[in-house]
Amino acid sequence: MTVLLDVRDLARAYPVSTAGGVRRTLHAVDGVSFSLERGRTLGIVGESGCGKSTTAKLTLGLLPATRGQITFEGSPVTAERDRHWRALRRRMQIVHQDPLAALDRRLPVGQQVMEPLVIHGLEANAGAQRQKALALFDAVGLRPDLFERFPHELSGGQRQRVVLARALVLDPALLVCDEPISALDVSVAAQVINLMQDLQMRFGTAYLFISHDLKVVRQVADEVAVMYLGRIVEQGPPDALFHAPAHPYTEALVSAVPTPLRGTQGRIILKGDPPNPVDRPSGCAFHPRCPRAVARCRDEAPALKRVADGRLGACHLVADAPAAAVA
Ligand SMILES: Nc1ncnc2c1ncn2[C@@H]1O[C@H](COP(=O)(O)OP(=O)(O)OP(=O)(O)O)[C@@H](O)[C@H]1O
Ligand code: SF4
Ligand SMILES: [Mg+2]
Repeated sequence: MTVLLDVRDLARAYPVSTAGGVRRTLHAVDGVSFSLERGRTLGIVGESGCGKSTTAKLTLGLLPATRGQITFEGSPVTAERDRHWRALRRRMQIVHQDPLAALDRRLPVGQQVMEPLVIHGLEANAGAQRQKALALFDAVGLRPDLFERFPHELSGGQRQRVVLARALVLDPALLVCDEPISALDVSVAAQVINLMQDLQMRFGTAYLFISHDLKVVRQVADEVAVMYLGRIVEQGPPDALFHAPAHPYTEALVSAVPTPLRGTQGRIILKGDPPNPVDRPSGCAFHPRCPRAVARCRDEAPALKRVADGRLGACHLVADAPAAAVA
């Protein structure tokens, strides 16, 4: 497997003013590293405000990073809007939560699927561009008679299919999906997830799949990264994280997913308010809410390290991998 995307120590800070007018720094993303192989899916989960969308925008060079490096298909990604960036952006596309906001209300949806081909001057002529757009319509399960319809004449699920067709028409190697099903009904969301899995098999596209829903991420991802307050706190195969979460925050997330047997019983209710990224707690940032915190957690930040079964974890209570496994 070849590495498609490599992200090292990515960070993004914002200057903000507090209620009293004091200037502070908000660390939206603070030292995130991961890599993604061709055709694979990395899921990113975490509660609202933990930095998922910021990570997505930084990865695509839509937002300048405060720190860190991104390498995509062997080339550095920066936020400079130059020819190099435009060429890279053809190969990396994004799908957002709200398909209606992503589409132009005044243009027929077929034209919107053709548009990237027109902008990049791809295919021999307008007829060939239309044929390619129709082929993508077919691939995402949209009838050709919907080609001339406007976004408001389609259902939410159909609109998200249009967005997927438009993202895939340029044959990208990477699709960054930021909560792609959150705005859809449960049954439609399930159809779109199945479709995305089929499309990945067919086109070999890698997905960076962002969601607050651990259950969905478990279904689609080959690897899952759990974020808390701008950092990855655990990363590993979804089944391992689900069955035996190493980090207490992952454990709380997993316990909140209802199962047919126990429903929502056994759910770990975290104490305290969701954290404020302007006031990052000392030591382990999770310590004010952590049911397992010990004295050390208040003063000493745990590093993200390889733990016993090979996954990554950032918790003082998690045993390190044996030396041989790390080497
Ligand atoms: N332009 C900005 N200026 C200041 N702070 C920002 C800006 N954009 C994002 N933030 C802050 O950065 C943090 C991370 O935001 P981000 O949108 O990445 O979170 P998220 O995990 O995607 O949340 P959600 O699940 O709600 O979409 C939040 O605290 C947010 O308020
Ligand atoms: S380091 Fe301490 S506070 Fe942080 S997750 Fe582990 S036990 Fe909890
Ligand atoms: Mg977001």
